Amino acid sequence: MNDTLSQLLEEKTLGDEGLSLLLESGDGALVEDLHRTAREVAVENFGNEVYLRGLIEWSNICRNDCLYCGIRKSNTLISRYSLSKEEILEACGEVWDCGIRTFVLQGGENPSSALRLADTVAEIHASWPGAAITLSLGELPFETYRLLREKGADRYLLRHESASPSHYGMLHPEGMTLSTRIRCLKALKELGFQTGMGMMVGSPYQSTDNLIEDIRLMEALRPEMIGIGPFVPSGGTPLESFPQGSADTTLRLYSILRIMFPRALIPSTTALGVILPHGTEEGILAGANVVMPSFTPTLHSPQYSLYDGKNRPSSVRGAQQVSNLKKDLSAIGYRCPESRGDYKE
Ligand code: 5AD
Repeated sequence: MNDTLSQLLEEKTLGDEGLSLLLESGDGALVEDLHRTAREVAVENFGNEVYLRGLIEWSNICRNDCLYCGIRKSNTLISRYSLSKEEILEACGEVWDCGIRTFVLQGGENPSSALRLADTVAEIHASWPGAAITLSLGELPFETYRLLREKGADRYLLRHESASPSHYGMLHPEGMTLSTRIRCLKALKELGFQTGMGMMVGSPYQSTDNLIEDIRLMEALRPEMIGIGPFVPSGGTPLESFPQGSADTTLRLYSILRIMFPRALIPSTTALGVILPHGTEEGILAGANVVMPSFTPTLHSPQYSLYDGKNRPSSVRGAQQVSNLKKDLSAIGYRCPESRGDYKE
């Protein structure tokens, strides 16, 4: 192993200087070593296995106006939809039939429909007791989180987006704060959700120091899942003219986080796959261990356009996407078990 890397890894926790070196170094051999070390940690913990999650983007109706996001409420270019309970259950059936044992229900932030979703969660839980239910519905009142947990939800994804209050403020409208986000994350943990944090890489105004602050916040809050993807500009948003984030930095972060959080569930995200050919496989080879194929009905998926290039009308989805994924992953030596893939200490 590269001397610099082994020296860095001897430190109990990577110091700020070590982290900025790993994030910025132009030394290709060091970066290759970083990815190889992370891959070895992933294989030690999970074997050559990648967990699949069936992503159902159930509604793009959102009360928020995040400056980067294509489904922000001020975007009048998209039409809004919510799937009915029947449509959601049908999508879950498709996910199950593909041998996938986690359903991810993601949607815009909308507290009243989140409350109504509780019944659907209960029905999914009763119909497929062998599957895990992950939710990603934004900031909600504690009581709503509690209800969703009681109805059978196991996990919750809520990216913190930026651990710097001022940078957070540059990405979000007035009224949204990092402290509220952190309060929600703590509530989710307290309720026993396996909880996911994360951020975009290369979001407007982000510095390497910001990324280090993100890592430190995750060290403090110990998320079970870590979702990281490059920023991809979204037409019609205030940040549409900013450049996209770096795939290389994203991959370095997967490796750094794998080494720092050996058992975390880290997806090789859709956004990485959109900006980098074979990005999904590269993410796995850098230490990620989860992939989330989409089961959003074709009729609606183009409207769930968080960023440009996501959910094109021509995007392959569902069973076909899973079969392609399994082939691609098998070509690099990984298989996808039929298991919930829970976080384990
Ligand atoms: N580029 C990349 N990721 C985005 N997200 C939202 N908008 C974009 C964008 N333009 C991510 C956010 C959010 C997750 C659901 O999607 O980080 O938490």
